[in-house]
Amino acid sequence: MITIVGAGKVGGAAAISIALRNLSDEILLLDVIKGLPEGEAMDINHMLSEKGINVDVRGSNDYSDIKGSEIVVVVAGSGRKPGMTRMDLLKVNASVVKDVTENIKKYANNSIIVPVTNPLDPMAYVAFKVSGFSKNRIVGMGNMLDLSRFKQFIHESTGFSRDSIRALVIGEHGENMVPLPRFSSVAGIPLMSLLSKEKIDELVVSTREVAAKVIELKGATVHAPANGISAIVESIVRDTKQVIPVATYLDGEYGFSDVTIGVPAVVGKNGIEKIIELDLDSSEKE
Ligand code: 2OP
Repeated sequence: MITIVGAGKVGGAAAISIALRNLSDEILLLDVIKGLPEGEAMDINHMLSEKGINVDVRGSNDYSDIKGSEIVVVVAGSGRKPGMTRMDLLKVNASVVKDVTENIKKYANNSIIVPVTNPLDPMAYVAFKVSGFSKNRIVGMGNMLDLSRFKQFIHESTGFSRDSIRALVIGEHGENMVPLPRFSSVAGIPLMSLLSKEKIDELVVSTREVAAKVIELKGATVHAPANGISAIVESIVRDTKQVIPVATYLDGEYGFSDVTIGVPAVVGKNGIEKIIELDLDSSEKE
């Protein structure tokens, strides 16, 4: 069973994305708001039913229902409103994530936690500290979303198939995220040889800023985060060992300790199976 805590727009869309990838027979949507998770589950089941997809989605307000979850995705908390940065949510969401994590520890002590709530990197730290789980079992979803935006900008600028594009973004899932053109390519052709430095600089800035633009236009980002979640869940469930930048606890890697931040890692059935240390140049490292 896969549980998603938070049955708002992102939680609902994540349930759909996970169901469409057929990653579990059962998905539980949990929320403190009465009626919301049940209603969302019904609506999604009606869609899956017509499609003939045998994934049962359930809604609940009761944490004891998460018992037996292999993965718990945490999207609960306040979302960014127009004009806000992710860090503006720090105080209010830290107590939400602490509370959710205490319940995960109580009822789903063997699960892997996928924190998504913003500001993502500190929230992954809260989940790590409060749960007491080993660090491989906290797999924060942030840079996966950032790289999907970087890919789209590369696609728009080069005109090449999205399928051929590889892009990497690491660091904070926030204002200081680090898109890495040197580690991005189209079918192995370095991005730097396809686009001018000025154009690449422009794409880097756009990648950092585009979520705020989406929020200004439609009030929230929904589909790209939902896909980022299901991509990570897929790598865990199917044990594909995909290399994905995820927020993880660093213990000396990259020269940092006791901090949770986005770095590339091998994601498989044990969660984070290996952190990959890139040979960053001085400006990337800064
Ligand atoms: C996003 O990047 C708001 O963190 C959220 O879509």
